[in-house]
Amino acid sequence: MRLLPVPAGARVRGSVGAVPEPGVDPAGPATEPVFLRACRGLPVERVPVWFMRQAGRSLPEYRAVRGEGSILQTIARPELAAELTLQPVRRHGVDAAILFSDIVVPVAAVGFGVDVEPGHGPVIDRPFRSAGDLHRLRPLEPEIDTPAVLETVRILAGELRSPGVPLIGFAGAPFTVASYLVEGGPSRTYSRTKALMHGDPGLWSRLLDVLADMALASLRSQVAAGAQAIQLFDSWAGALSPADYEQRVLPASRRVFAGLADLGVPRIHFGVGTGELLGLMAGAGSDVIGVDWRVPLDEARRRTAEHRPTAVQGNLDPALLLAPWPVVDTEARAVLAAGGGQGHVFNLGHGVLPETDPGVLTDLVELVHAVPPGSLRPAAGGTSS
Ligand code: CP3
Repeated sequence: MRLLPVPAGARVRGSVGAVPEPGVDPAGPATEPVFLRACRGLPVERVPVWFMRQAGRSLPEYRAVRGEGSILQTIARPELAAELTLQPVRRHGVDAAILFSDIVVPVAAVGFGVDVEPGHGPVIDRPFRSAGDLHRLRPLEPEIDTPAVLETVRILAGELRSPGVPLIGFAGAPFTVASYLVEGGPSRTYSRTKALMHGDPGLWSRLLDVLADMALASLRSQVAAGAQAIQLFDSWAGALSPADYEQRVLPASRRVFAGLADLGVPRIHFGVGTGELLGLMAGAGSDVIGVDWRVPLDEARRRTAEHRPTAVQGNLDPALLLAPWPVVDTEARAVLAAGGGQGHVFNLGHGVLPETDPGVLTDLVELVHAVPPGSLRPAAGGTSS
């Protein structure tokens, strides 16, 4: 199998990224890649960094090979999806790859009637309205329903083995996927979703249970195929009150994390605008809590301390990457300081914006790697407290 060549102009670092050979650690015996160690709260020689939406329209090489049409067609082509996953790893030297796929892939695969419109997001032919729609969400059989995704994971597991860059598999959390199914597309208010949640709590909880089963089946299959960590995206959970989250959403997400526990891979839980929910979200049982830019990481550790997540992930505001470099430099160092150097995976607070200069992302990776973790003040209220 041959993956596509790196286009001219891309900064290629080493084979896939500027990472040490796996198992070579100045600290001593053979160890895991730095990203996995950070997820587990273990000592690291540098703070690992990757970016949500690191593959995508910010990269000219992505635009060159992505082509027209729905992203779902791209995801259905394993060699192309693998190439798109690898592009940011090669260019930026990030410490983890994230599978090129989408959170609506499982529901699309069981035939719910979903597409993803470029520049807009998921669109549903016939939105979820009543109990009669439940039968349209049959259980996911990943090897039968999403063979292309698993083939992509297998290709990537092979390609990423020698540089020692872990692959992150992912799924949409039950609430965030439900919000698309019920609203019929992206929403600002989540009014139909909240109306269903409160108007027919029994149906709502059955819907979330079905979606939790699908996320779990998908994530387990990705890990079986070679993903070394997983992230559950509850991107839009921040729209909820703590009470609604706790009673009507948290149980389904908790079931997903519990169902992955035996696999032993780090589990990351992320949402946007979730400052008031962080403590509850940590109770869902992930190892790592993803945080957006609204809450400093040391404060996020305090808010989640009761549940002892082993790490925090985040949280530079992606919009700041459009500001002059000195701003990025100052703000990135502030994130590193709040992260405390251990049990921190550097990331943005949400996805890379398409208009981001990819050179800034590469420079940001270099900056994060250049700051010795030992120089960062220990985070107050850290995981060892
Ligand atoms: O590098 C990566 O992060 C790649 C893989 C990835 C995609 N979608 C590819 C994609 C991941 C992890 C996702 C997850 C995803 N999809 C989420 C959760 C993450 C988040 O942003 O909070 C959500 C909410 C979706 C649903 C979705 N898919 C949206 C809102 C959009 C944006 C629409 C747009 O075009 O701006 C998509 C499309 C999509 N998924 C793109 C990519 C690279 C963009 C466009 C394309 O080339 O068509």
